[in-house]
Amino acid sequence: MSVAITGIKTNKVSQSRIQQLDHNNIQFGKLYSDHMLVAHYENGKWAAPEIVPFANMNLSPATTFFHYGQAIFEGVKAYKDPNGNPLIFRPQDNWKRMNRSAVRMAMPEVSEALFVEGMKELIALDKDWIPTADGTSLYIRPFMMATDEFIGVKPAEKFTFMIITSPAGPYYAKPVKIFVQDDYVRAFPGGIGFTKAAGNYGASMYPTMKIKEMGYDQILWTDGFEHKYVQEIGTMNVFFVIDGKAITPNTSDTILAGVSRDSVIILLREKGITVEERPLSIDEIVAAWKNGKLTEAFGTGTAASVAPIAELTYKENHIILPPVEEWKLTNWLKQELGDIRYGRKPDTHGWINKA
Ligand code: COI
Repeated sequence: MSVAITGIKTNKVSQSRIQQLDHNNIQFGKLYSDHMLVAHYENGKWAAPEIVPFANMNLSPATTFFHYGQAIFEGVKAYKDPNGNPLIFRPQDNWKRMNRSAVRMAMPEVSEALFVEGMKELIALDKDWIPTADGTSLYIRPFMMATDEFIGVKPAEKFTFMIITSPAGPYYAKPVKIFVQDDYVRAFPGGIGFTKAAGNYGASMYPTMKIKEMGYDQILWTDGFEHKYVQEIGTMNVFFVIDGKAITPNTSDTILAGVSRDSVIILLREKGITVEERPLSIDEIVAAWKNGKLTEAFGTGTAASVAPIAELTYKENHIILPPVEEWKLTNWLKQELGDIRYGRKPDTHGWINKA
């Protein structure tokens, strides 16, 4: 049951670090705002959260998540509207997804009050950290970890939920180069591919390191049985514009149900564009490129926003897409989603939350 949290116990910093924020040089994920939210779970319930100065943590080396990876996270973003009011984009959807991850990872669910209202209080307190230039935002990272001190393997009984925030510039500064993976596997049916479990990202590091050495930015993962159907990019869901239709793999237990993915589908359909959510084979993508029907491709994610794909390599096929400036849908989507997120257009979907 959701119990309202009002007036979270707050220990404010004595001296803000806001002067460290250089508005002309905002990178992704390097600087953290003054405060963070912390809540502990023990004896079957969450204790009242607190907002405290951002600081290092003191943990036993035997803390279970270090060893067995019961750790999950989310990504949300806050923006400022033209009047300087802080806006948070669709936090309820991230809350629901965090709880789906929690259930699969044998971790406790968090209440909407803890996740959403706690986030709003934190953002209201640190609103000066929200950058305003186009393409910038305050990235919000809620996460949870198992904190039992025990080396045996068993579902933990103690957990910590936290929210930290970080001023963010674009995740990808330019259109991305993608390697279509037909060797390593990201997720299998029955596994945890649909969750934001830390291990999904950890397992992708080695294959990603290999393709970065070859000059690519990210992997487009294929299914684990046949390496035939495209899945997701790992940092983003993926869309291909073929013959004027936007096609994206349908979500399943191997694909993350992206909040940005969902927003993009809704906006495209409202514009009258056909969106197909279905299994999409790499052969279909290559054939569409060969006969000139593949016109645009992009990834979607909280961190990445809408990220154009410049190139895709699959075996001997090097797909080079036309210059991004010519793309109608992707550029329209970036603008439309930006206008909604920055409060420049009315929010007709109930996506925007005032902090
Ligand atoms: C997000 O988009 O929020 C993610 O969690 C993905 C990661 C690349 C930062």
